Amino acid sequence: MREPFRNEPFTDFTVSDSIADFQAAIRLVESQLGLEYRLKIGSDRIETATKRKSVNPSDFKQTVGIVSQADEEYAHKAILAAAAAFEEWKRVPPAARARVLYKAAAILRRRKHEFSAWLVYEAGKTWTEADADTAEAIDFMEFYGREMERLAEKHPLVPYAGEHNELTYIPLGVGVVIPPWNFPLAIMAGMTMASVVAGNTVVLKPASPTAVIAAKFMELLEEAGLPDGVVNYLPGAGGEIGDFLVEHPLTRFICFTGSREVGLRINERASAAKQDQKWIKRVIAEMGGKDTIIVAEDADLDLAAEAITASAFGYAGQKCSACSRAVVEEPVYEEVLEKVMKRAQALKLGLAVEQSTSVGPVIDERAYLNILKYIEVGKSEGTLVLGGNVRGGSGYFIEPTIIRDVAPYARIAQEEIFGPVLAFIKAGNFDAALDIANNTEYGLTGAVISRDRAKLEKAREEFHVGNLYFNRKCTGALVGVHPFGGFNMSGTDSKAGGRDYLLLFTQAKVVSERF
Ligand code: NAD
Ligand code: ALA
Repeated sequence: MREPFRNEPFTDFTVSDSIADFQAAIRLVESQLGLEYRLKIGSDRIETATKRKSVNPSDFKQTVGIVSQADEEYAHKAILAAAAAFEEWKRVPPAARARVLYKAAAILRRRKHEFSAWLVYEAGKTWTEADADTAEAIDFMEFYGREMERLAEKHPLVPYAGEHNELTYIPLGVGVVIPPWNFPLAIMAGMTMASVVAGNTVVLKPASPTAVIAAKFMELLEEAGLPDGVVNYLPGAGGEIGDFLVEHPLTRFICFTGSREVGLRINERASAAKQDQKWIKRVIAEMGGKDTIIVAEDADLDLAAEAITASAFGYAGQKCSACSRAVVEEPVYEEVLEKVMKRAQALKLGLAVEQSTSVGPVIDERAYLNILKYIEVGKSEGTLVLGGNVRGGSGYFIEPTIIRDVAPYARIAQEEIFGPVLAFIKAGNFDAALDIANNTEYGLTGAVISRDRAKLEKAREEFHVGNLYFNRKCTGALVGVHPFGGFNMSGTDSKAGGRDYLLLFTQAKVVSERF
C-alpha cells in the first residue's frame, strides 16, 4: 500500500548545508541562462521564426531563455496531437497513470533546488517563495496520483435485484491548460497533471513571462516516462492563440488560472458550440482576488501585524491570495497600522537571487507601471504612509507600500492591484468590518484576527470567501490541507488540492447489466 499523502517539507534556510545546496543550484541555473526552447507537439520539437525573450525581473538585461512562439497553425497541430494521444492514454490504467506522477514528483524532489533556482531567475521569487512553489508542485503530483487511485476504486451503488450496476470515472478528452506566471511551477504542474492523471491529454500554453520553467517541467515529464503527445508544450501570446485554442471544436475542457478579465473571456468563448463540436466544453477558471484581513479590537495585535505583513508583501503582493486590504476596528487601528509599518519597513527589497532579500521585483514592465499607477490613485484616495518609491537599476522593484484611511469603495479597495500595495481601512465595529470584507466582487481568501469566539463564529457564517483563515495569514494554502478556490468573480471554486478536484477532469459512466 502506498503511504498516505504528506506535504513536502519546506527547506530550512538557517541550515548551512541547505544554503550551500541552494547556492550551488543557483550557479547551475546561471550557467544555463539564455538557452533556446522549442515547442513540443507530439514527439516533434519545433523551432519557430517568432521567438520571445524571457528575462529576469530582478535584472531585465539578463535573458533567462529564448522561447519559440506558436501561431494558430501550430495550435491546431497541438490539438490534433493531443487528440491522437488521447486514444492511447485513456486506456492506460489509472494506477499506471498515477505512477508517472509519483515518478515525476520523485525527480522534482531530487532536483528541487534547481527548479527553485529557475523560479528565482524567471519569476523573481525569493528563496523561500521559490522553495514553497516547488514543494507545492511536488504535493500536487503526489496528491492527485493518490486521488486518481481512490477515484478508480469501486463506488458503492444501491443494490438492485437482478442487476449489476457499476459507476466509473472516465476522462473527458483534450484539455487546454492555461496557467498564470505567479505560481509558474505549482499551478502549471497542478493543472496539467490533474488533467493527465485523470486520463486526459493536454495542450499546455504557459504564461509568457515564465515559459522557461514550463519547458524545464516538460523535460522532467519526459524523464518520468510520460508518452509523447500526452502533454504538448505550446508557448505563445495568449492574445494570439488563446481564443483559437479555447474555441477549437476538439477542445473538451479548459483549465485556466489567471485574471478575471481573461477568465470571463474564456468562459464566454467556450460556451459557443462550433461546427462539428460534440460536447459542452467544461471550464475550470480560477481568477483574481481582493483579499481582506479583519482585525478585531480584542485581537493579539502582534499576531495581526505579522499576518498582514506576510500576506500583503510576500512575493511582492503578487498572489491571488494576497492581503490587499487590512480592515481594522477603530480602537486598535492606529496601533495595528504602526506595527505593520514597522514590520514592512524592515523588509529588505532586493535581488531575488540574494538570500537576505524578503521582497523581490514585480514580474515585468506592464505590472510595474500598472502598480505605480495604482499607487498614484491611492495617494488621492488616502494617505501614503509607507513606500511608494521604486528602486533604481535594471529591475522592477517597488517598495512595500501602505495607504491609510482608504474608503471601503475606493478604487484601491476594490480593484486587484497585484503588487506590494496595502490599503488600511477603518471599521466602526466588527459587523461593519465584515460588511466591508464582503463588499468586492471577488471572494477568494480572507482572515480574521480575534480572540472573541462569537466574532469568529459570525465570520465563519458570513465572511463569503472560498478560503477563510482565523488567527493566521491568508496566503500559503497547502495541498490537501487547504483545498483552494474562490467564490464570485474569483472563479469556479474548483478547490485545487482537494478531494473534489479530479471530478472536474472526469465524467461518470454507469453500466447496468441485467443477468
Ligand atoms: P492573465 O489572465 O493575464 O494570464 C493568465 C494566462 O492566460 C496566461 O497564460 C496568458 O497568456 C493567458 N491568456 C491571455 N489572454 C488569453 C486569451 N484571450 N485566451 C486564453 N488565454 C489567454 O493572468 P496573469 O497575469 O498570468 O496572472 C495573474 C492573475 O492570476 C491575477 O488576477 C491573480 O489573482 C490570478 N491568479 C489566481 C489564482 C487562483 O487560484 N484564483 C492563482 C494565481 C493567480
Ligand atoms: N495557493 C496560493 C496561496 O494560498 C495562491 O497563497
